[in-house]
Amino acid sequence: MKTYRERFAQLSRHRQEHSLRVAAVMEELAVLHGLPADQACLAGYAHDLAREMSRDALLAEALRLGVGVGGLERQEPVLLHGPVAAAWLEEEGVGTPEVHRAIRYHTTAAPGQDATGQALFIADGVEPGRQYPRRAAIEETARRSLAKAYRVLLEETLDYLKGRGLTPHPLMLQALRDTQGEEKYEEECVIPETSRQWAELAARTAEQKKGENVVVLDMREVTLVADYFVILSGHTTIQVAALAEHIEEALKDAGVPLLHKVGGSKSHWVLLDYGALVVHVFTEEERQYYDLERLWGDADIVQFS
Ligand SMILES: [Fe+2]
Ligand SMILES: [Fe+2]
Repeated sequence: MKTYRERFAQLSRHRQEHSLRVAAVMEELAVLHGLPADQACLAGYAHDLAREMSRDALLAEALRLGVGVGGLERQEPVLLHGPVAAAWLEEEGVGTPEVHRAIRYHTTAAPGQDATGQALFIADGVEPGRQYPRRAAIEETARRSLAKAYRVLLEETLDYLKGRGLTPHPLMLQALRDTQGEEKYEEECVIPETSRQWAELAARTAEQKKGENVVVLDMREVTLVADYFVILSGHTTIQVAALAEHIEEALKDAGVPLLHKVGGSKSHWVLLDYGALVVHVFTEEERQYYDLERLWGDADIVQFS
């Protein structure tokens, strides 16, 4: 019997790189959502171990391992690459039952998937080697809520299949129906935290793009204007405009709608209004002149990472 590492070594470089990117996304999601990171990585690393087998080899291996083969699988043996990889790990005694299940259903998804299963389906779909318009937005959603990103990605995948005249796997349709039942619960859980996460995303982006002195203020106790302010500065009006654009882009990718923008390419103050979040990008003199931080001195400063 080959070990999973030996099987990995036999994959094409392209497949190995994809699997390593999926493992990296899995690790990040595991840390954010309190899942065992080593198992999450393993799921990413091993999910496509059987992806490069021929149709006949997949069918034969599925039969040997006692993996169920339905009519759809007979027609499209590639559907068996998840179940076969999962059975290999089971046979070798590697990985938890959650990992085996996640790998088994990583292609079709399935109703009742736990967090590991949802994370793997998402990670496979959003790893940065993939290219489609909403990829980054779904990845960002997954950082906040696995269930929500899972649902959005299922919808996206089903739309894609429909657009190409392909029949979706029944498990995928059931998975979507299953998540829609949870929608209300999800909305209730996620929305109250969201403005904070928007603020953190804006602040992180500002820092990455070399914004100066980035401050996040919690406004919830001091005004109804917004939940959070993010304040930062740039050296020149050109940098102010560029910083505002980077932040605007990051929030747009995360699916956060911009309500108003004040200021443009030559402004000393650009304001991005997202309702619950307002971002202020200043030149340093302008920031000192208006001194919002003193004006709103009662607001708590939020630490972000
Ligand atoms: Fe796969
Ligand atoms: Fe994959």
